[in-house]
Parts: sequence; structure tokens; C-alpha cells
Amino acid sequence: MKSNPSDLPAELADLLGRSRARLGPFNAVHYFSEVASTNDIAAALPEGTVVLADRQTAGRGRRGHTWFSPPGSGLYASVVLAPGRSSDPRRATSLLTLAAGVALAEGVDAASGLCVDLKWPNDLYVSRRKLAGILAETSEDRVVLGFGINTSVASYPPDLHERVTSIESELGRSVDRYPVFVETLAALSRRYHDLLLGRFDAILDAWRRRAPAAVGARVARSVDGSLVTGLTAGVDDQGALLVRMGDRLERIVSGELQWL
Ligand code: BTN
Repeated sequence: MKSNPSDLPAELADLLGRSRARLGPFNAVHYFSEVASTNDIAAALPEGTVVLADRQTAGRGRRGHTWFSPPGSGLYASVVLAPGRSSDPRRATSLLTLAAGVALAEGVDAASGLCVDLKWPNDLYVSRRKLAGILAETSEDRVVLGFGINTSVASYPPDLHERVTSIESELGRSVDRYPVFVETLAALSRRYHDLLLGRFDAILDAWRRRAPAAVGARVARSVDGSLVTGLTAGVDDQGALLVRMGDRLERIVSGELQWL
């Protein structure tokens, strides 16, 4: 399916115009009423480009999951980044999704007052329900960073209702999506700047402050076909999760982990 960009909704154009100075490289926003996945559209675009859709017909989550993306219920967006331009490209690349998680939490907080927890590697939760997720896809020297934020879950299927939440359901009032989007872009601009300048401690400190489950939470991991449980023991300087399993301290770098 070929998608054509639409004009920006007037309210969004106005907000973006007024926030231009805070958006850093994220000034070119391509808006679509419907796409398969914003990550696919962004893959062909230059660094700094932002793709936003009202609806996705084939939204992707991590590890092969689908990201349910009904119209009017969430923010489905992708930004094109180049962490290789950092003073320390390897570390910037490994901390990219942590930085993005911090930015999403800051954007939601700034626009709505809702305080969210980060859960390693890059989910946003309120209590035990997921509010937002991040999917980073790399091609050559660029990373397409896609994020989905649930603003209302009115039209979600019942099985998802149990596991997800939205800004509106948490606050008990209606919330305008576009200020959340613009504040998230502004926060992404600040945190991307931190990454490019090598200010990794600022990112890690902010992430740790918002991630209570990174220390002392019970998790399980499949090892040789059986589940081994352990207790989280923080993240290291490269963003890997440390888990104490018996007398060993394991370093987990991918998301193959169950939170118990
Ligand atoms: C996850 O938690 O599994 C990641 C979800 C990422 C969803 C977003 S919505 C915008 C972008 N386009 C996609 O197809 N996926 C990401």
C-alpha cells in the first residue's frame, strides 16, 4: 500500500510552530492519516525527520509482536537518528533506547502531569500496565526509533485492556494528543543532544531515577529450556541489566526476560 502524506492538522501545526526552538533536529514532521508502519516510512528519510500517523494497519512491536494502532487512540511516530555521530558512537548506540525511554517519560510528564515508570529495556509502565513502547530498527548508519504512546484505550480488545493503560485512563480525564507529541519531541531533542555530546551519565541517572524495578525486582530467564529466576541489580554503564541469579551476577543485553 502506498501512503501519501496529509497536511498537518491545524492544531498540531500551530503547536509545532510555537515550539520550534525546542525541537532541535526534529522540525520536519510528515503526517499521515494511515500507514502500515511509521518505521517503514521513516526508513527512507534523513536524520531528524519525524513521521506521525493517526493509524497504523501493521504497527510492529518488539520481538515480532503487533502494535495495536487504532485511530485517535494513541501516538504512533518514528524519528530518524544517527547515534554514530556521537563522540562515543558505541556507547551512544547502546544507550539510545534508554535515552528514548527517558525522553518519552519526560514528554508525557511535561504535557499531562502523569508520572510513568521505565522498565528495562525500554517500556513505559504505570503500575503493572504498559503505557508506551519503543522499537529501534537499525540500517547502516541510521536508527529508526519508533514509539507508540497510548493516549486512550477505548477501542482496545478486551485481552489488551488487562495489560495496557493510557494517559486518559490513568488521569481520569480527556487529554489532547498533540501537546504530548510535541513535548515528547522536545524531550527527545534534549536527550539526543546528550547522547551526541557524550553526556551518558545524565541519561543513566535520569533513567535510574524513573526505573524502580531495575533494582530488587524478581525476573526469570530461560536457560537451557528451564526458567531461572533472579533479582534485578541495576543497569551498568552500557545500559545492560544486571541480575543476581544465585551467586552469579548476570549481564542481560537483550529483552529475553520475564518480569514476575
Ligand atoms: C514495543 O513495546 O513492543 C514497541 C512498540 C513500538 C510501536 C511503535 S508505533 C510507531 C512505530 N511504528 C511501528 O510499527 N512500531 C513503532
